This record gives sequence, C-alpha cells and structure tokens, in this order.
Amino acid sequence: MRAEATTSAPAETGADTIAIGLFEGEPIAHDVGGGLLQALVDSGEAKAKPRKLAVTHAGGLRYVLAGLGKREEFDAERARVAAATVVGRARELGARFLCWELPHHVGDAEAGGFVEGTLMAAYTYRAYKSKPEEDGGLERLAVSAHHDVSAPVARAAVAAEAANAARDLQNAPANEMTPERLAERAHELAAELGSLTVETMGREAIEAAGMGAFAGVARGSDQEPQLITLRYAPAGADGPVLGLVGKAVTFDSGGISLKPGMKMSEMKFDMSGGAAVLEATGAIARLGLPIPVVAVIGATENMPSGHALKPGDIVRARTGTTIEIINTDAEGRLVLADCLAHAVELGAERLVDFATLTGAIVTTFGDTHAGLFGTDDAWCESVAAAGKRAGELVWRMPLHPDYAKAIEGRYADIVNAVETRKAGSIVAAEFLKRFTGDVPWAHVDIAGTANDTGKAYARKGGTGFGVRLILELADSLAASD
Ligand code: BES
Ligand code: MN
Ligand code: ZN
Repeated sequence: MRAEATTSAPAETGADTIAIGLFEGEPIAHDVGGGLLQALVDSGEAKAKPRKLAVTHAGGLRYVLAGLGKREEFDAERARVAAATVVGRARELGARFLCWELPHHVGDAEAGGFVEGTLMAAYTYRAYKSKPEEDGGLERLAVSAHHDVSAPVARAAVAAEAANAARDLQNAPANEMTPERLAERAHELAAELGSLTVETMGREAIEAAGMGAFAGVARGSDQEPQLITLRYAPAGADGPVLGLVGKAVTFDSGGISLKPGMKMSEMKFDMSGGAAVLEATGAIARLGLPIPVVAVIGATENMPSGHALKPGDIVRARTGTTIEIINTDAEGRLVLADCLAHAVELGAERLVDFATLTGAIVTTFGDTHAGLFGTDDAWCESVAAAGKRAGELVWRMPLHPDYAKAIEGRYADIVNAVETRKAGSIVAAEFLKRFTGDVPWAHVDIAGTANDTGKAYARKGGTGFGVRLILELADSLAASD
C-alpha cells in the first residue's frame, strides 16, 4: 500500500474515506456538513473510547470517527490500534483510499503509529488462496496534517512494510520457505540495497567451520542448511557494531525427540526470529541508519531421519565447547550457539538475538510480552525501551549461576536440555550466554509473540515481531553517539 503525508485538507486529497480521531472531552477540530460530526458526538453515536467507531457521509465522502481515549493516555500504540480498527471497518465498506486527519498536537511517533497500524492491519496472506478476496482492500493511505509529517510517515511505512515482509516469510509453508529460500530473500535484499552485502554458508561450509552444534541439527534434514550473514557498514558510522542474530528453524518437528502431532503445523513459524532479523536489517539499510550492523541467521530444518542427531550424541560447537544432546527438540539453542559465536567473531559489539526458543515462555507471558534475558543492564534497558516504543513488549527475566548449573554436563561440557520442566526459558538463556563472549548481549524469546497473538494490527498468522523493535533499537544506538 502507498502511504504519503500531505498538508492538504483531508477532503482535498482525493480519498474516498476520511478517518478522524476523537479525544475524550474534546470537540471536533474541523467539522463538515455544518456540524455533522460534532452532532454525532453530541448524540452519543460517536464515542471517544478506544476501539469505538462511527460512520457517516458528507459531501460525497465517507467519514469514520475513531475513539482515541484520553489525550494524556494517548501514545503510538493507541494510534496503531485505532488505525487498525478503522482498517477493519474501511475494508467492510469497500474503501480504497483512506486519509487520516492527524489530531492536533500529537508527536511524530504517534503520526507514525497511524501509518504502522494501517499498513499492518491491511496485511493479508493469500499466496495459496485460489480465489481473490471479496473486498479488494485498501490501496492508499494519506496522513493529513497542518505541518510536514513526511519524515515520520515515510519511516513508519518502511517499518511496517518490513514487518509485513517478515510476515510473508513466516506465513509461507515450510515446503516453500526452506533455508535456501531464506538465503535467496537475503540475496534479493542485498541486490536491491547496495549498502547491504550477504554471504551464505551451506552444509559443507558450516561443518568445515567447526560449527558442530548447527551442523548437528541440520543433519537430519534433506534440506541444505544456510548460515546467512548480512553486513551493513554505512560510510562515516563509527558507533558500536550492532550484532543481530535470528533463529530460523524453517520446520521444527522435534527431530528424533519428535513433537506430538497437535499443532505441529505451527512449527513452520520456528523461523520467525530469523525472518525478523532479515527484514529489519533490510529496513535499516533502506532507511540509511548511521550504524554498522552484522546480522547472522541460522536457517535449517529439524527433522528425524537415519542421519539425525540422537539423544546422547555429543557435538562440538565452533567455540570448542562440547554439548551432549539430551533432547533433539532443544535445537534452537544449538543453532544459535554457533550463530552467536559467529557474530562475535565478525566483530559485533552489542548483541541481540530473536528466537522462538521455548514453550515455557508462552506459559509465562502468553502472547503479550516476549521474554528478555541478558547480562548487561544498560543494553537490556535499551532493548526494553525500544520494544515499548515499537509496541513490541519485552519483559526481563533473571539469569543466575544456580540456573547455569542445570546445563553442566556429565559426558560433555554442557547439555542442551534438562529432564525437569523447571525454569525452561531461563535455562535455555543460560545455554546461549555461554556463546556470547563478553559482548553485551540480550536474548529475546519470541515463542509467544511471533504468531497468532490476536493483536489489533496483526491478528492471525505471523506478526513480524521484532522488526520494529530492532529499528527503534538501531535508532537509539545512532542517537547515542
Ligand atoms: N521451537 C520450540 C519452542 C516453541 C514451542 C516455539 C512452542 C513456539 C511454540 C523449541 O525448539 C522447542 O522445542 N523447545 C523445547 C525445549 C525443551 C525440549 C527443552 C520446549 O520448549 O519444549
Ligand atoms: Mn524444538
Ligand atoms: Zn524450535
């Protein structure tokens, strides 16, 4: 969808539908039809409470009045949700070109929120549907304001398009979205964005590099694994190198420790961390943010076969650490172990990884917060603050030497899983920590937030979680030097 900023009045933009936000206790700023909109408010038909909508017509145009709640509580997330609510109605009404009248005295973040909410709510995934959709959907969005909001509108559009691109990767079935297809997507981005370079390693190269943990997971699958490295080094940027790492298990059957069949089809979403890192890195380059980035995506299937890892097998990671496989379904941490070490070797100075790592984090936070783990308080704070601005909430969990004890090995240095169900997400994070050197590191467990969260602007399927957080984080790094 096209998104643009304009200083023309909404009725002059050519839009067929105009969205106007209502704050509690505030009158309509620019009324039409001789007080028509205010009359709807006064009669109680249009309400200022969040998620409330009223529709009317004037001068051949359609007006949607959307509740924004109390002005002092208004933020970018409220704007996203209001925008999504409007999209739902606009689609039912067959709208093609929507114009949001930006309320007076709201900031750039909130202006961007209307754009993100609109573009993300308008997203549909129909690649495998034989019939086209009945209501064709929105084609164009304009944000009308007295002042120039083209910069925040353009930035939000890039962010939302990147999140939607990640959702396309997530929603595609695992028979299409293979590790090689993800690598191809990385090459597409690098071909499009001159400032981005990509390098990929296949099975042989991964094995030859001594990445025995990653290679071990890949062994059971006929699909060629791919270790995808993207680099973005803008001229003149001297800030810390941001290291992004993503788990991209394109299908997690559990391997020999096979998962139960119930909802196993959802394990196509086990590449969500990698999808977020890939598309966020593309967006950083597209926006030309002045920070260097190295992004590492570990893509493989986790399948049972005669070649597959078995419980009791021991593998040696790139760092030299030996790992006894207790459960082949704890594969994400094996893949990430070598990816984190790779990012450190390539010069990452701040690390953050995104992974659908544990079912336990779904038990803990449901689909509201992702789990945040890390060693460096300031870095964790930055990640949490970026998440808050993006409307991608993360909540910090503790690490502690007592949890680290749980992964000490009997036959090898460490084990990849423990037989108890105690503190599953934390134990997994303690495992990752072993591979981060002394680089400030944060781990975001997105198993609960990657798909099917029911959020207003990403209700079903992949959510693109992490893309917008990473962009906010990159912005904050750029601002700090
Ligand atoms: N990909 C799963 C985690 C997951 C579970 C994501 C549910 C989304 C929804 C991960 O590879 C996994 O299987 N983790 C195991 C670890 C256990 C064997 C130690 C888990 O959480 O059960
Ligand atoms: Mn698993
Ligand atoms: Zn997994």
